[in-house]
Amino acid sequence: MTPIPRCDRTEAWLRLQDHFDRDARHFDLREAFAADGRRFDGLSFEAPEIFADLSKNRVDAATLALLLALARECRIEARRDAMMGGAAINVTEGRAVQHVALRAPRAAGAYGDEVHDVLDRMLAFVEGVRDGVASGITDVVNIGIGGSDLGPQMVVPALDAYAQHALRFHFVSNVDGHDIAPVLRDLKPSSTLFVIASKTFTTQETMANAGVARAWFLANGGSDTRRHFVATTTNVKAAAEFGIDTTFGFWDWVGGRYSLWSAIGLPIALAIGATNFRALLDGAHAMDMHFAQAPLERNLPVLLGLLDVWYRNFHGFTSRSVAPYHQGLRRLPAYLQQLEMESNGKRVDIDGETLPFATSPVVWGEPGTNGQHAYFQMLHQGTDVIPVEFILVREPTHPYADLQTKLLANGLAQAQALMLGKSAEQALGDRVPTASTELDPAILARHRTFTGNRPSTTLVIDKLTPRALGALIAMYEHRVFTSGALWNINSFDQWGVELGKALCNDILPRLASGDTSGLDGSTAGLLRRLRGSR
Ligand code: F6P
Repeated sequence: MTPIPRCDRTEAWLRLQDHFDRDARHFDLREAFAADGRRFDGLSFEAPEIFADLSKNRVDAATLALLLALARECRIEARRDAMMGGAAINVTEGRAVQHVALRAPRAAGAYGDEVHDVLDRMLAFVEGVRDGVASGITDVVNIGIGGSDLGPQMVVPALDAYAQHALRFHFVSNVDGHDIAPVLRDLKPSSTLFVIASKTFTTQETMANAGVARAWFLANGGSDTRRHFVATTTNVKAAAEFGIDTTFGFWDWVGGRYSLWSAIGLPIALAIGATNFRALLDGAHAMDMHFAQAPLERNLPVLLGLLDVWYRNFHGFTSRSVAPYHQGLRRLPAYLQQLEMESNGKRVDIDGETLPFATSPVVWGEPGTNGQHAYFQMLHQGTDVIPVEFILVREPTHPYADLQTKLLANGLAQAQALMLGKSAEQALGDRVPTASTELDPAILARHRTFTGNRPSTTLVIDKLTPRALGALIAMYEHRVFTSGALWNINSFDQWGVELGKALCNDILPRLASGDTSGLDGSTAGLLRRLRGSR
């Protein structure tokens, strides 16, 4: 394959910079809508299960054409095909990146038989546990962290409408005992199933919590560890050494943050059952096909990835806020934080060269409307421009139609307010019963002005079904791939987590011994303080 240029070394990059300097820097969404009555139609896109309105973003036809030219110059299609074809694109670990193979039909996937054999075995196990009378299981505790936690922890509540409510789910991730203690307090060993989820089966937090769970189980009369502990891991040997022989495996070509489709999805399957779990996989596969086959001009993950590059590298926006207007998606921002920031939070390119441009934005958020009453103030009137991503779900799975109408109205209104803003003249004309009467009205109007022109994307899903959620998550995965590919970084390693882990191993015995030799002054002082000596 001919070498792939990094985005900043392309012709399109220079043209984008020129376009930004001359025109786009001053782009105004209100003017754009006034000038083009068909802007919404031109900038809204359909992908499997998702309708995306990109029209409230600071782009026009010229911007998009240049971004697409950038994608082509960076040979995004060849890079995508290399990933999907199983090339070892995770070069620093010498591994392929094949999470797409986990949701492909048996005959179509690169590892069809391996993947589907584990899936079939796992789903048969799932149906056995879900038969509460036979299994006696009422509570499932997933012990895992990062990618072995965030996916199931996000999907289980999101698909609550499809879940078997006779089973309760608990997620323990933190090595802080305040996480596991309240969970164990209310459980009985005889009706609890522990899932020890760890790709490596070496992660400190997970191993420590698994040890606590096993000790609690035995101390409280639990007798059949083999029936009450299962493992989801690539390290079957380590799981066996821990004493677990019901293990569902996966492979090193599945990154932790891309693993909910593998055995790591066991709690999801336990919650929603085999048929719905397969529907989740189908939805992701449909999005994979869209990413693989749709022309770049209508390829939703590609367009969103390009928009991310545009905002990060040309506008200089440092973060993106995700606002799912669906309470079930309350953990989606946390899930996306790992997906995006662990993947693309890199400062060197694939050849190890220091990058002269910014990479991953901060991704953060809360469900609407809660966020509106917390940090939306800053989104509307703060000094930073933060693109917002609204996720609206048309049809609820609850019976309270009036609440749903209010929810959707709020989502639409927030996006509208961010874009339209409010001028000082408009503010001056407002009647404001709560405002101080002693203040000069002109000054008050300045406080009540909104600059507007704040960009947002709105994703609309008809109903949050397993299939729709699968498509949504896969869309985010491919979007992260797109921006990472343009930046020419390795989106599939995470060396940045290593240093802290190594230093923790050094500090751990010092907390017991009090030895501060060789430590920096701050760490030494804090260590003494935490040991109770001043
Ligand atoms: O924090 C780094 C990390 O390796 C993540 O990438 C991963 O998802 C998490 O730890 C958990 O790892 P494991 O599944 O091996 O326990």
